[in-house]
Amino acid sequence: MKNIFLTGGAGFIGSHFANKLLENNFHVITIDNFDPFYKRSLKEKNISLLCKYKNFKLIEGDIRDKYLLSDIFKKHEFDLIVHLAAKAGVRPSIEDPTGYFEVNVQGTINILEEMRKNKVSKMLIASSSSVYGNNKKIPFSESDNVDNPISPYAASKKACELLCSTYNTLYGLDITAFRFFTVYGPAQRPEMAIAKFANLILNDKPITLFDGKGSTSRDYTYIDDIVDGLYKSIDKLDGFKIYNIGESQGIKLIDLVGIIEKNLNKKAEIIFGDKQPGDVDITFADVSKAKLELGYSPKIKIEDGIKRYVDWLILNK
Ligand SMILES: NC(=O)c1ccc[n+]([C@@H]2O[C@H](COP(=O)([O-])OP(=O)(O)OC[C@H]3O[C@@H](n4cnc5c(N)ncnc54)[C@H](O)[C@@H]3O)[C@@H](O)[C@H]2O)c1
Repeated sequence: MKNIFLTGGAGFIGSHFANKLLENNFHVITIDNFDPFYKRSLKEKNISLLCKYKNFKLIEGDIRDKYLLSDIFKKHEFDLIVHLAAKAGVRPSIEDPTGYFEVNVQGTINILEEMRKNKVSKMLIASSSSVYGNNKKIPFSESDNVDNPISPYAASKKACELLCSTYNTLYGLDITAFRFFTVYGPAQRPEMAIAKFANLILNDKPITLFDGKGSTSRDYTYIDDIVDGLYKSIDKLDGFKIYNIGESQGIKLIDLVGIIEKNLNKKAEIIFGDKQPGDVDITFADVSKAKLELGYSPKIKIEDGIKRYVDWLILNK
């Protein structure tokens, strides 16, 4: 297996995974529309690190563009699709549900249709821990009910899982969907908590915890563990599968701030704000299925991961 079509390669997870593939001599063509959700310059920086590889190509374009996709699939023979492009983020999806469904759901249909037409049978796709909504059973397991997402973003990810399952049933496509749990690390999306808080604290600006008192908790996953999980699954694609990819550790928001403060050697000025619609109370991954079937083995604890992120931030500020 050599030729990979990666969607969203200019983004945070996409650029890290592209790097891993390129280092291992895969040929990677990525499509990315440099969605203005965050600064283009950050995505250009990600791409510039990939451009040093001869086996990398960027196509600036949109997965909503069926004609462009058709042209790409006609010109290239792909062994594997890695579909990471999406409108990410819970809160903005409440403001723009249509936009989220056009990219996340219709965009995924466009890719699946090109796979069907061009007999490309293998895909890895990003789903999200947000599909678990406010489920009470902890940790979250792949077999839990996920019929109650609480944001359009989460609903769009659940819809993508259903579509992938349908294309597996109809056309025998081998698709693995990954429910990523809050991913962080160098080049992380700037609107996410760790990046946002670290930047504000560094600049002596107050941070707002939108959960009343910092008691909500997340399973924060370091980017290298995400890349490891994705990479290990490449030669194990068989049927339609779903895996949680997390660290399997719950960190309270207030404790997260403490770890960031310690690494920056600065105290945060904290404002407590009201809980935001769409935000869940807790995420916590049961990763036993990924461990057993993929050999996934998360390694980076939050203290170590935040240290690595802060080191990168200081170097890149
Ligand atoms: N980062 C996380 O914590 C997390 C958690 C769960 C799931 N995910 C999922 O993982 C994937 C990658 O997330 P990320 O954090 O790297 O986000 P990101 O925003 O950094 O990367 C997504 C990339 O997709 C591109 N894109 C958006 N719309 C597009 C379109 N219409 N056509 C082509 N490209 C388009 C963006 O420009 C961006 O470069 C997404 O599917 C996201 O939903 C991320």
